[in-house]
Amino acid sequence: MNRYAEEYRRSLDAPEDFWREQAREIDWFEFPKTILDRDANGAWRWFRGGKLNTAWLALDRHVAAGRGDTVALTHDSPATGQVTKFTYSELTDRVARVAGGLARLGVGKGDRVVVYMPMVPEAVMAMLACARLGAVHSVVFGGFAARELAARIDDAEPKLVLSASCGIEFDRVIPYKPLLDDALALATHQPDRCVILQRAQAAAELVPYRDLDWVEWETASAPANAVPVDATDPLYILYTSGTTGKPKGVLRDNGGHAVALHYTMNAVYGLDAGDVFWAASDVGWVVGHSYIAYAPLFKGCTSILYEGKPVRTPDAGAFWRVIAEHRVKSFFVAPTAFRAIKKEDPDARLKDAYDTSCLEYLFVAGERLDPPTYHWLRDILPGIPVIDHWWQTETGWAICANMAGYDLHETRAGSPSFPVPGYDLRILDDDGRELPAGEEGNVVVAEPLPPGCFPTVWGDHERFVETYFRQYPGFYLTGDGGYRDADGYVYIMGRVDDVMNVAGHRLSTGQMEEVVADHPAVAECAVVGVRDEEKGQVPLGLLLLKDGVNLDAVTLERELVQMVRQGVGPFANFRRALVVPRLPKTRSGKILRQVLRKMIDGEPYVTPSTIDDPAILSEIEEVLVGAGVMTGSS
Ligand code: COA
Ligand code: AMP
Repeated sequence: MNRYAEEYRRSLDAPEDFWREQAREIDWFEFPKTILDRDANGAWRWFRGGKLNTAWLALDRHVAAGRGDTVALTHDSPATGQVTKFTYSELTDRVARVAGGLARLGVGKGDRVVVYMPMVPEAVMAMLACARLGAVHSVVFGGFAARELAARIDDAEPKLVLSASCGIEFDRVIPYKPLLDDALALATHQPDRCVILQRAQAAAELVPYRDLDWVEWETASAPANAVPVDATDPLYILYTSGTTGKPKGVLRDNGGHAVALHYTMNAVYGLDAGDVFWAASDVGWVVGHSYIAYAPLFKGCTSILYEGKPVRTPDAGAFWRVIAEHRVKSFFVAPTAFRAIKKEDPDARLKDAYDTSCLEYLFVAGERLDPPTYHWLRDILPGIPVIDHWWQTETGWAICANMAGYDLHETRAGSPSFPVPGYDLRILDDDGRELPAGEEGNVVVAEPLPPGCFPTVWGDHERFVETYFRQYPGFYLTGDGGYRDADGYVYIMGRVDDVMNVAGHRLSTGQMEEVVADHPAVAECAVVGVRDEEKGQVPLGLLLLKDGVNLDAVTLERELVQMVRQGVGPFANFRRALVVPRLPKTRSGKILRQVLRKMIDGEPYVTPSTIDDPAILSEIEEVLVGAGVMTGSS
C-alpha cells in the first residue's frame, strides 16, 4: 500500500488516533482532553478541552523559536507599485498592537468584528488581531455591494468594522468607504466604531466620533497578549452563498482549524517551514483565510499577499514575475485566472522572461479545472505537477487532492484525484444508494467530518442541519455532483443545487433573483448560471414582465445589470437578461433552474414529469436562440 492509501485508511479506521497525532504537531496551552465528541446540538466537535491561541500559533511561537527574522508576509502590490515584507517579529508586533487597539475599543472574547478590506497587509493583521483576543472576525469580500455587506453586518452583529478608504482594481480606484457608509445606512445593527485605513489613492471622509483613522488608532495602542481560547471557541464567520438569497455564516472553530490546516501544509502542499507559498486568492474568500492568512503562518512559511490580477497588472506575465521574484515553491490559484492568461498569452511567452525554477507544485481550486486548461498548464509547465483539488468554504480545506506530501499519483484531466485523509467520500443516488464507478450522483461525506470543517451555521443551527444533513442522515451533503472512475479517481462536475460559480466566485441564484425581482417591470424571474469559456459560468436572467409594461429590452437589461452591480456586486458578472413568455416550473411552483441550465449549456436533460407544461422549454429555447445565447437543439 502506498503512503497515501495507508494514511487515508488509518484516518477512517481510527480517526481519533489519526487526529490526536496531528494535534501533537501544534503547540497548545493545554492539550485537549477529548479528541472527538458531540456538543449539545448533536454536532461533532474536535479537541474539546484543548486551549490554544491561533494568532500565537501563527506568529509568536516562531519568534520564540528563533525564527523572528524569517519573512512571514510579503505584500506584492502591482496596484500601488510596492512590495513590502514583514518578518515574523514585525508581523507579531503589528498584530499585537492592532489587537491592543481592538481591546481598547472594548473588543473581547466572542465579540464579532467585520473586516471589509482590500488586499492590504492590514487585512491579515486584522484577522490575526481578532484571533489574538479570541474575538471572531467576519471578513467580507471587497467586491460585495453595500446591500450584501449590510446583510452580513446584521447577521454577525459586530462591535466594530475595520475597513479602508479604497481598493484598486487594475488601474481603477474603488472607494470602499461610501459602500461601508451605505451599508451602515441599510443595516439595522450598528457597530460602535469603524476604523478606516486611509490609503494614498483615495481619502475617506470620516464620520466624527464613529470613525477612527487606522494609523492613529494603531499607533496609540499598547500591544495586547494572546488570550488562551478553547479549541471549540469560534475563530471566524465567513458568509457563503446558499440556495436562498440569505448568506450562510460558516463558523470555524480554533482547534480543529489549526490542527487541520497545519497538517495540510506538508501533506497536501508539500511545504516545510521557510518555504514560500502563494495563494492568489482574496482574503474575502475561504482560500484567502486558510492559505493566505493562516496555514502558511502556522507552518512558519512565507505567505504572499498579491494585490494584482493575472493580466493587465501590467501584463499576462504577472504570475511568473511574482513566482520568480519571491521564489514561490507552491502556487495555488483558480483556473479562471489561467484562462485569462491563456487568452492574452496563448503560448506563455511572457514566462520566458522569468526564472520560475523555484516552482515545484501548481495547485488549482475554486472551480473545476477544465481539461483544456489542464492540458495547457501541463504544456507550459513541463515537470510541474498540476494539481486540481476540490474543497468548499464549509470544509475550509481540501476534500480531494493529489497529496504532494505523500506519493503523488499520476494526475488525470478533470479530476481532483482522491479523498484526503479524514473525508469518507461517497457518491449516492437520490434515494441514498451508493453508486458504482462511472455513475454520476450526489457527492457526500460520511460523518464525522474531519477537524476544521464547520460545526454550525452562525446563529442558525437548524439551517446547518436542514441544508447539509437532512437529505442523507449521517452524511454531509456537499451540493456538488460527481463520480468516481474505475481506479477511484473522483470527478466533481458542478453544483447540483442553485449555487453557481462565476470566475471562482460562489454566488447564489436566489441572491440575484431577489435583486432582479425588485425592478418595477419584473413580475417573476429566474437566474441561471450558464457556461462561459473564460469565467466558467455567468448568470443569465430570464424575466417575466408585468402586464402592460412597455420598456424596451435594451433599457431593461441595462437597468437590471446596474441593479445587480449595486445589489450584489460587479464580480457577479450579471450582463444578460432576457424576457421570456413563461418560466418552467414544477406543479408545486418550483422553477426548474437545473433543467434550464442544462438546456442552455447543451447538456442532456430529462424533462421532469412534474413540469407543469413541457412546451415552455421550447418557447424559451426560441428566445435564447434568437438572442444568440444558445445555438438550439435542432
Ligand atoms: N473589489 C471591487 N470590485 C471587484 C473586486 C473587488 N475585490 N473583484 C472583482 N471586482 C470587479 C471587477 O473590477 C470587475 O468590474 P467591472 O465589471 O466594472 O469591470 C467585475 O468585478 C468582474 O470581476 P471578475 O469576474 O473577477 O473579473 P476580473 O477581470 O476583475 O478578474 C480574475 C479576473 C480571474 C482575476 C478573478 O476573477 C479572480 O481572481 N478569480 C478567482 C477567484 C478566487 O480566487 N476564488 C477563490 C477560489 S481559489
Ligand atoms: P467556495 O465555497 O466558494 O470555495 O466554493 C465551493 C464550490 O466551488 C464547490 O462546492 C464546487 O462547486 C466548486 N469547486 C471548488 N473547487 C473545485 C474543484 N477543484 N473542482 C470542482 N469544483 C470545485
